[in-house]
Amino acid sequence: MSLLLNRKVFGNPSNAGNLLTKEAAMTLFSSWVLNPKLQVHMLQVAHLMKTWAAEKEGLNETEQWKWELSGLLHDADWDQWPDKHCIKIIEHLESLNIDTEVMHAIASHGPNHFGVDPENQMDKMLFAFDELSGLIHAYSILRPGGYDGMDVKGVKKRLKEKSFAANVSREEIQDAANRAGLELDTLIAFIVSKQSAHQ
Ligand SMILES: [Fe+2]
Repeated sequence: MSLLLNRKVFGNPSNAGNLLTKEAAMTLFSSWVLNPKLQVHMLQVAHLMKTWAAEKEGLNETEQWKWELSGLLHDADWDQWPDKHCIKIIEHLESLNIDTEVMHAIASHGPNHFGVDPENQMDKMLFAFDELSGLIHAYSILRPGGYDGMDVKGVKKRLKEKSFAANVSREEIQDAANRAGLELDTLIAFIVSKQSAHQ
């Protein structure tokens, strides 16, 4: 099954700044995503995107929401329409005349799967957070104390263990960090601290 999108342009540039309201985004989220584990993953990535935009990029509230929205909806069609993953949510957002950057971020969250490279920093951070966030969350579930006392060293140990979260590509995680211009340690430390505070 190929998930290649076979296109690089999404939506119409004249829709710049047009975002869903929080209410509309949450209605879409809860009607499309029925799997509670996937909901947790998407909410975690949304939170990471928002806090990164605010704390590391110094963006205003509208821009923070754009980042959060991209994280919130990046896997919206994975649950019910896995063979149309990315296609369905992008087409839906296009029909609502949403800002092209939101669709581009969603389209580039897995460049090896969808064939679209992350371009701006929002794209790159979504790619960087996606798999690593899930791996760190899986690690927290296995630890007796959850996120308590979790450190970068422990996460890196799990990354070296091939049998742990075996379906998560370590090469992809490193590639994503490189594209974002970040050390893996920086990324891990940020995710651990934000996810531990947001449970
Ligand atoms: Fe994801």
